Amino acid sequence: MALPAMASGSVLLLLLCATCCRLALGITDGLLANGNFERGPQASQLRGTQVVGASSVPSWRTSGFVEYIPSGRKQGDMVLVVPEGAYAVRLGNEASISQRLRGAVPGARYSLTFSAARTCAQAEALNVTASGQSGVLAMQTMYSCNGWDSYAWAWVATADEVEVVIHNPGVTEDPACGPLIDSVAIKTLTPPRRTNKNLVKNGDFEEGPYIIPGTTKWGVLIPSRTVDDHSPLPGWMVDSLKAVKYIDSDHFAVPRGRRAVELLAGRESAIAQVIRTVKGKQYALSFTVGDASNACRGSLMVEAYAGRESTKVAYESAGKGGAAKRAVLLFRAASARTRVVFFSSFYSTRSDDMSSLCGPVIDDVAVVSVRPSAPRRLELVGRTGDRLRARATGHALHGVVVVVACVCKTEICTLLLLPCLDNVSLLRRTTIL
Ligand SMILES: *[C@@H]1O[C@H](CO)[C@@H](O)[C@H](O)[C@H]1NC(C)=O
Ligand SMILES: *[C@@H]1O[C@H](CO)[C@@H](O)[C@H](O)[C@H]1NC(C)=O
Repeated sequence: MALPAMASGSVLLLLLCATCCRLALGITDGLLANGNFERGPQASQLRGTQVVGASSVPSWRTSGFVEYIPSGRKQGDMVLVVPEGAYAVRLGNEASISQRLRGAVPGARYSLTFSAARTCAQAEALNVTASGQSGVLAMQTMYSCNGWDSYAWAWVATADEVEVVIHNPGVTEDPACGPLIDSVAIKTLTPPRRTNKNLVKNGDFEEGPYIIPGTTKWGVLIPSRTVDDHSPLPGWMVDSLKAVKYIDSDHFAVPRGRRAVELLAGRESAIAQVIRTVKGKQYALSFTVGDASNACRGSLMVEAYAGRESTKVAYESAGKGGAAKRAVLLFRAASARTRVVFFSSFYSTRSDDMSSLCGPVIDDVAVVSVRPSAPRRLELVGRTGDRLRARATGHALHGVVVVVACVCKTEICTLLLLPCLDNVSLLRRTTIL
């Protein structure tokens, strides 16, 4: 009698174990298995640097002309530098590397981060595929001076098994030509939510792709024409010609929290989000502008749009992560959806290498509805040009009297104040009755 009971007990134990093991095997944020290629093929699986056999690089499958490259290797007069550890792989014409992952949650969104460097062709690209979705990431414009950049791309898992493929679709004369790849990592993205305080999702940019820790000080590019499910920056899209850079406080100056976005390539590098609004209602778009402490010196400027209304915010940068500046744009929604867009007005390059693109940093984007209640009247005493301060419902208001044509017999002017907002300039928006 005792035997069957014991047997069923161990079955239960086995089942329990299988469940825990399954959970434990779920996808963890960070490098994939052998994601930095430090474990390589055996000598017999290499012909020079060329990898022979489809499963010679531990944890990976390879196909086509794949090379295993040690750091410091020369190609022509160029020395190939490997950013993490001592090895990287290089994908020649039509070559690919892939890895199968288990424990994905169907319907969840994942982001892949990897580092890549162009080695020969003018226009190199990589086609990244996972769960039947794919994206072609252009490596055409170099954003960093050492040639390496990290890229991010996201997809939605459709099953608990996912095969991630990085493929070089290039067809050049030299079959070996193609990008070097290193540090392949994954991150599960948490879906962003708008709160009743902020209509912008992920406005503080805290949710985003994995940033490789350590010495790689170049952030992660959110590639151009990144929309919807393929955005590794939840809530946001980059539907401009060039990428924006996702940066973290471990490597850069960030206005608040741990993450922010650097606008890299003037008007060609924009991030956008479409928010739900009510036509005719008034809103305030606020955001912070700073610099990443990456030697991006000079007069920077951010342009912000909310529908057709816009503002420009100048930021004088010493390139050392100076005091960030908060700006507000008041707008009236023209429809049920309003597109919020940010880009840098100018191209800038780092003053330490004169070639890497850089730009202003934005952070903490918020859109709040400003109550449609009757505008408040406030009596302020002053002359034209005077700076005035007042308090209303606990919020500090700062304004400047700008119109002379008010009935100001006793020098008491009535300002029509918009509902209370911290530090809104009343300069242009105020009508004096
Ligand atoms: C990228 O790869 C996927 C999967 O192999 C393929 O369906 C897609 O057409 C490729 N895209 C381009 C532009 O080559
Ligand atoms: C508003 O302006 C005051 C004075 O200029 C400043 O001390 C304060 O930090 C500002 N508040 C915000 C939220 O920017």
